[in-house]
Amino acid sequence: MSSPLRIAVLASGRGSNLQALLAARDAGALPVEFVAVASDKPTAGALALAEAAGIPRLVLKPKDYASRRAFDLDLFARLRDIGADLVVLAGFMRILDGEALHPWVGRMINIHPSLLPKYRGLHTHRRALEAGDLEHGASVHYVTAELDGGPVIAQARIGIETGDDEQRLAGRLLAYEHRLLPAVVRLIAAGRLAFTAPDGVSLDGARLAVPLELRGDELVR
Ligand code: GRF
Repeated sequence: MSSPLRIAVLASGRGSNLQALLAARDAGALPVEFVAVASDKPTAGALALAEAAGIPRLVLKPKDYASRRAFDLDLFARLRDIGADLVVLAGFMRILDGEALHPWVGRMINIHPSLLPKYRGLHTHRRALEAGDLEHGASVHYVTAELDGGPVIAQARIGIETGDDEQRLAGRLLAYEHRLLPAVVRLIAAGRLAFTAPDGVSLDGARLAVPLELRGDELVR
């Protein structure tokens, strides 16, 4: 891995998690270099943020490719050529092809708005509310071929409140996502985290039995 760590962020939407990473970098709390922001949506807010921050943008349109795999192979070839060490999926709303992503296993993370393994996929806030859960949260995990199924590195937990509807819960959780993702990237940049095949995570060389927990801005065992 390079020093500073070279990261590429993939986002399909507004990009508030990208913004949180940029803010952490600007505050001197995240020693990384942003080598690309890539998107499948030309109108993604994340691309405008990248432009404002002077980060190279990469827009690939799915309709220009014969298959999902062709899209993903091209995307990952470009990220390799750019020299990315780490790929961060921050609201990238595409299912990735297992073969295409394989070379990146251990070097690609995703932020997902649920306490995995609960609620893989979409509508996580609604599903947590409908289930009557008392708590909800967000997870950052290494990406494997299984959708939202790779080993979980760290989680942020919040209590579900009486006044929560889907939108309120999502908004409250988002503030925690914005601390969780930079905290995980910070550990990776420090060389302290590793993916251990087939489905583990180690911190400082010791395998984690359970995901790290966000407390304030820090991750604790
Ligand atoms: C976040 O809720 C993230 O957990 C999920 O997609 C959303 C992206 O939001 N994977 P933003 O584009 O970073 O604002």
